[in-house]
Amino acid sequence: MIDPDYRFWADGGMTDYLDDEVFVMDWDQQRHYTISGPSSFLKIEDQEKDGCAAIDVLRRYMNQLDPGVHTIRVDAEGSLVSTSSNPEEDPEYAVFYPSLHDAPSIQGCPTIEMSKLVELDRFGPGVDLASYKDENGIVKKVVFKSAPIMQFRGRRWWEINMLYSLPRHPNLVPLDRIVVDDMTSQHILGLTVPYISAHTIHDDREQIFKLDWLCQLTSVVDFLNLELRVAHQDIAPRNIICLEQASEGHQLQLFDFDRASSIGQLGWAEELNDIKGVIFTLYEIITLDDSYQRLPPSERNPDVVMNLEYWPQRRNLDVEVPILRKHLEEWVRCRKDMAPTTQEAISPSRVPEMPKPRPVVDDIDENGTPVYISLPRTQRQLAKKYGNYVISWERTPSVTNPSN
Ligand SMILES: Nc1ncnc2c1ncn2[C@@H]1O[C@H](COP(=O)(O)OP(=O)(O)O)[C@@H](O)[C@H]1O
Ligand SMILES: [Mg+2]
Repeated sequence: MIDPDYRFWADGGMTDYLDDEVFVMDWDQQRHYTISGPSSFLKIEDQEKDGCAAIDVLRRYMNQLDPGVHTIRVDAEGSLVSTSSNPEEDPEYAVFYPSLHDAPSIQGCPTIEMSKLVELDRFGPGVDLASYKDENGIVKKVVFKSAPIMQFRGRRWWEINMLYSLPRHPNLVPLDRIVVDDMTSQHILGLTVPYISAHTIHDDREQIFKLDWLCQLTSVVDFLNLELRVAHQDIAPRNIICLEQASEGHQLQLFDFDRASSIGQLGWAEELNDIKGVIFTLYEIITLDDSYQRLPPSERNPDVVMNLEYWPQRRNLDVEVPILRKHLEEWVRCRKDMAPTTQEAISPSRVPEMPKPRPVVDDIDENGTPVYISLPRTQRQLAKKYGNYVISWERTPSVTNPSN
């Protein structure tokens, strides 16, 4: 189940300073709602609030509404005024995807049609647990990272390309398949990675942590940074699984490459460097304190935790805290000593730009001729009216009480 705190997300909106209209994504059903009402209540302009009032409205009323309702209007107190399920006012977008036919960088990568994936669980925004039967009839459990909203297409494109460019490594969760709509048009809807059957070290606070796993982490980070000149840029306990039953050297699994980048290339940021990532990761694993990880990257100073005299131990460890800290300090020192010059550090490879989606009909001109254009998205009802094929992401809700 998706963590209730991450189920809804304000995906933009409009205001005339009297009235606001907020577009809210429900990641559970993978569909949007429009919440409208006085600006004094919805406060779309207030960056801090980030659509919270609209999300609260949806949480409060959605269970009482007909499943077809897509628009909810409230008054200045947030009380329900009206709803709409009129298909002509459908606020949903049709998203258009690049085709694998136009993507030379990832040709040869195995694919799977989305219809072959069986949903087993919903982990988070655009992240599901799924299974499929492969060509040999073997059932595979995978994590499906999808792009139900336009903004996710680029992230998934990025992660597919990064993972496809990496050689196999025992501590890296590899790319499994590119998920396409069908084998003819091959629109890229997401990717799968093999499912590792365990909680992340962030989610399992009871799990022991071992010195050997820290050594595996620093060594796989060295492999990425120094041999491949790739930065992961999101090293964190929520992206690491430790498997006690796996064979030696394979126990730590690092995943989530959607922020990774070739060093010095587009998408790379010095302030996200993996040395910092490892420092805050070890600190959080030992102390269960994620307050530093949650700060914006520019405000995260690794010296602050490195210089803390005392790291309170709140997790079982197979060695004393000072031994883990000593390994960390030595590794950080060693990495600083071998820092390459900027020119040497720049990687030659970079993720190519995402191909544009193939043109769709966006209008009919005065002569009755269809007007074709390459769009990232358009209103769903318009796309359908002009006969375009629209990917449907909507699904039934998995929870009955959205306020949970
Ligand atoms: N290969 C995997 N095996 C097991 N769980 C996974 C795997 N990949 C992701 N998860 C779970 O799904 C969550 C989100 O996946 P992640 O790849 O980190 O996506 P995001 O980019 O949304 O952070 C992870 O924190 C983890 O709980
Ligand atoms: Mg993650």
